[in-house]
Amino acid sequence: MPDPHTLIDKAIKLLEIEQEVYGAFSVKGIKKSENKKKVTMSFDTSTSDEALNQLSNIKSLVELEDYCKTCEILRTDLTDTNLVMGAGNPNADLMLIGEAPGKQEDLLGEPFVGRSGQLLTKIMEAINFQRNDIYIANILKHRPPDNRDPLPAERLRSLPYLLKQIEIINPKLILCLGRISAQTLLGCKDSMKDMRRIFHPFMDKYELMVTYHPAALLRNPNWKKDTWEDVQLLRKRYDEMGGKP
Ligand code: URA
Ligand code: URA
Repeated sequence: MPDPHTLIDKAIKLLEIEQEVYGAFSVKGIKKSENKKKVTMSFDTSTSDEALNQLSNIKSLVELEDYCKTCEILRTDLTDTNLVMGAGNPNADLMLIGEAPGKQEDLLGEPFVGRSGQLLTKIMEAINFQRNDIYIANILKHRPPDNRDPLPAERLRSLPYLLKQIEIINPKLILCLGRISAQTLLGCKDSMKDMRRIFHPFMDKYELMVTYHPAALLRNPNWKKDTWEDVQLLRKRYDEMGGKP
């Protein structure tokens, strides 16, 4: 029988870690996911037929990345940025989609490696995912200047490439990080409040969920509780769907 004091110490330590990641605890009722919305996807007509044709022939992530390197249309008005395609397990059942690379991501060519990336890693670890269990990408593949929000036109231009990436990864579940990611993929202008806590059907075979962006959590720690509840729900659904352990 282990010493009960050691166990209590361990429990306190765990709670402290969780509190650091998620803020103070509170358990609220969970909204039923009945009011599922029909997703309408809008495409930018400026994506040329040739690009769409090229994309439709691509079968692997390596091919997609090679092609994206040649696509000027994916760039922002910042020059000399690196392509930040995505990172993680290409066979993942969970795919996370952020907004756009920042400075660190541009330098390293990898998504979510800066401060919000570190928080994201902790959030995922708290629901028993290592970064290598999941795949992480962004709506934009290049860094916008001054970390401004991606423009609607930039988002629409990047979307067909991202959808191809999703199709290749073929996850079971998609988690949108933040409003911009969610609005782009759901093709709507709804608020975070209206988009969260629902498993939205997506591209006929996936389910998509929305939670706060880790950068938003760094600015507003009082949203951590809601994020904690969201990711618990996500993990539960992932297990129900038979996601890889
Ligand atoms: N924020 C994002 O949305 N994506 C990143 O890759 C890094 C920060
Ligand atoms: N606004 C955003 O862009 N993202 C969030 O996560 C919350 C508010």
